Amino acid sequence: MDRKHRIEDFLKIHHEHIWWPFTPMKLAKEPFFIEKGEGVFLYGYDSDDNPIKFVDAISSWWVSIYGHNFEPLKQALIKQMDQLEHVIYASMEHEPALRLAEMLSEKTQHHLPRVFYSDDGSTAMEIAAKMAFQYFQNQGTKEKTKFLVLENGYHGDTFGNMSLGARSDFHKVYEPLLFDVIHIPMAYNTTEGLYNEELAKLELQSLLNRLETFFEKHHKEVCAIVLEPIIQGAAGMLMYHPFVLKKIRSLCDEYKVLMICDEVFTGAGRTGPYFAYEHAGIFPDILALSKGLSAGYATFAVTLATEDVYQAFYSDNKAHTMFHGHSMTANPLGCAVSIASVELYDSLNIKNKIDQIQNWHKEFIEELKHSSVKEKIKNTRYFGSVAAIDVVVSLESFKAFNLEIIDFSVRNGALIRPLGNVFYIVPPYIIRKEELKIVYEVIYKTLKEKI
Ligand SMILES: Cc1ncc(COP(=O)(O)O)c(C=O)c1O
Repeated sequence: MDRKHRIEDFLKIHHEHIWWPFTPMKLAKEPFFIEKGEGVFLYGYDSDDNPIKFVDAISSWWVSIYGHNFEPLKQALIKQMDQLEHVIYASMEHEPALRLAEMLSEKTQHHLPRVFYSDDGSTAMEIAAKMAFQYFQNQGTKEKTKFLVLENGYHGDTFGNMSLGARSDFHKVYEPLLFDVIHIPMAYNTTEGLYNEELAKLELQSLLNRLETFFEKHHKEVCAIVLEPIIQGAAGMLMYHPFVLKKIRSLCDEYKVLMICDEVFTGAGRTGPYFAYEHAGIFPDILALSKGLSAGYATFAVTLATEDVYQAFYSDNKAHTMFHGHSMTANPLGCAVSIASVELYDSLNIKNKIDQIQNWHKEFIEELKHSSVKEKIKNTRYFGSVAAIDVVVSLESFKAFNLEIIDFSVRNGALIRPLGNVFYIVPPYIIRKEELKIVYEVIYKTLKEKI
């Protein structure tokens, strides 16, 4: 089939059979066809067969932390594929699952030594919530059935996770089916002092007071608090002070409430340390990790728990079993590539790389704030490898723009996929300054020409 007919064929199949996630299909633009990834770049062609090459500035939904076609990860997969691609994970054990469990436990300084394998961020969080709920049920504390959650959270699209997340437009239609949780109104600032310092302090203090009130009032009925540490990703890269985590930890201890950290986005080094909770010098009771762990090479996730949580299930009573599992649980390929990914975090000194990226973001944001587009932006913020800018435009008109911005940015050399009115950058950790510069220039050009 010649090239022209191949594209026509692809488009026909796309229109007749494909249903994309999160996409109003009737409004969607023609797809870009991606043929190859190499480093931070993706290569392909548009529906008119024009070649495209662009920086994957959001690490393909925050997953591809080492970019694309990364040799050490590829080799880990190939090696494991020669050995064992999959095996039922009950009664059976295998080396990659054992080695990875040991490594992840070590990453938590063995505060969370118990590892429960699953497939993606949503399932890891679903498991976390079930663990917390059953932890108290197994011990006879039947009244602790509710969850405290931070306003604007996002934990996935299953019914459990929609219940734990923000009741935004995104999940509104399902609202009658969701279980009740207790939402704590949030206050945001960046650790870089985005807002007026005094105001930020006041907001922080009122949030801390609010947390105390909520714990005091509800602790008898609450099994756990569920949160994304420091950065609420899907909400628009909203950032809050690590001190909030410290406060929550102490309230959890005081009122016997479990702390669940959703590190699906922030984990695997995204903010510098392997886990974002480390900024607060605390440890959660339960932790969900996915995305960057297997770095785009396998659908894979883990839920980690303390020994105390595990012991509530370690019982002669069969009813105390953790009733959850998936066909692909602890898939050896996923385990093998995750081991390689954790090793790379150390061997490539990723923490230093993230500090470097943060410095580049800082310079860029300073420049942007003094550039010709300064009136079009506000609440610029950055933390670790994450940078975000609120674009000044009404949300309604922006929604119509959204698909337009994706199209424009890709054609200009970097994928910008706004969250509402927020432009953000979540690059692969291996990105170099000149590659990040392409992203910065595309953001500037998009603000200048499209907003
Ligand atoms: C914090 C957080 N939790 C959970 C999820 C859900 O993960 P997945 O899309 O792998 O199901 C996401 C996805 O973006 C996330 O950002």
